Amino acid sequence: MWTELPKRASIYEVSLRDGLQNEQRPIPTSAKVELADALFRTGLQRIELTSFVSPKWVPQLSDAEELARSVVVPEGIITSALVPNALGFERARSVGLREIAVFMSASETHNRKNTHKSIERSLETFREIVPPAIDSGMRVRAYVSTVWGCPYEGAVDPHAALDITRELLRLGCYQISLGDTIGVGTPLQTRQICELFLREVEAERLALHLHDTRGQALVNALVGLTLGITTFDASVGGLGGCPYAPGAAGNLATEDLVYMLEGMGVSTGVDLEALVQAGKTAERIVGRPLPGKMHQAGLFRPRLSPTG
Ligand code: HMG
Ligand code: MG
Repeated sequence: MWTELPKRASIYEVSLRDGLQNEQRPIPTSAKVELADALFRTGLQRIELTSFVSPKWVPQLSDAEELARSVVVPEGIITSALVPNALGFERARSVGLREIAVFMSASETHNRKNTHKSIERSLETFREIVPPAIDSGMRVRAYVSTVWGCPYEGAVDPHAALDITRELLRLGCYQISLGDTIGVGTPLQTRQICELFLREVEAERLALHLHDTRGQALVNALVGLTLGITTFDASVGGLGGCPYAPGAAGNLATEDLVYMLEGMGVSTGVDLEALVQAGKTAERIVGRPLPGKMHQAGLFRPRLSPTG
């Protein structure tokens, strides 16, 4: 199994969005710019900056335009933002974003709590905005949440998530990020879900978005990797949670993921030392300890010789 690991993996960094959206203390835009700058120095190439959702529902990200206009994005890095509807798309377009991410859930109740829409209404909304966004030159990614389980409904049929995925791909989304929103998945379940999707969806079109609520995120990412999935969403320091998913703790920590991948010869293009620094910046700006293991343990520098 190990000899067949992919050579490369791509990380989609979500700390500035998923990481911060649940923080209660207001974080100034200047501090977010500082974190963005620290992330830009790591080699990460795909960074979700913020959300163009209702500021009433997610006040922490109400500075979305200001943040998007304040960051100076180095060449080669793609920044993206969450968009729920036509107004969000217009807001993202007004600041010149080249990529957006639409989102919905595989379970009806979470979708209604999170977006005040039925699943069918969410799909209708995306039918209205995804093709024009692509026509205007944007790339569109999509999230399907609660694939492993719903905080309100419990077990979720992965076929429901697959139906939604088919439709989002048909609309032109370039990648579907499958979310274990409340971190309930086990490795066996992850294998079953990934195998179901991979029967008809190319691995490059799938990503795993794993919350580490029950300590399973890294092992679930490894399961996905062994099956050929090579894009993983992660958040520096393990910062994160969803305001409309009770119990959704931090995302898979980017440092832990990079440490595992690079340690197994899977290239990420990310400089772990710079990433650890970015984790320290994240911790400073939120003003509380972050849960990432690598973040807490620090860099491991093997000695050159057993006696050295
Ligand atoms: P709504 O209130 O049902 O919508 O919001 P509405 O269309 O009836 O509009 C009501 C008000 O909101 C109006 O303002 C609109 O202008 C405003 P008012 O007239 O009352 O002053 N509004 C907006 N303002 C700014 N930007 C917009 C926008 N849209 C409407 N885009 C909506 C519907 C979806 C917008 C709302 O429910 C919302 O923003 N929800 C927040 C959802 C959210 O951000 N959840 C967390 C992210 S998802 C997540 O974390 C999961 C993920 O990480 C993957 C995983 O872990 O599985 C992605
Ligand atoms: Mg999430």
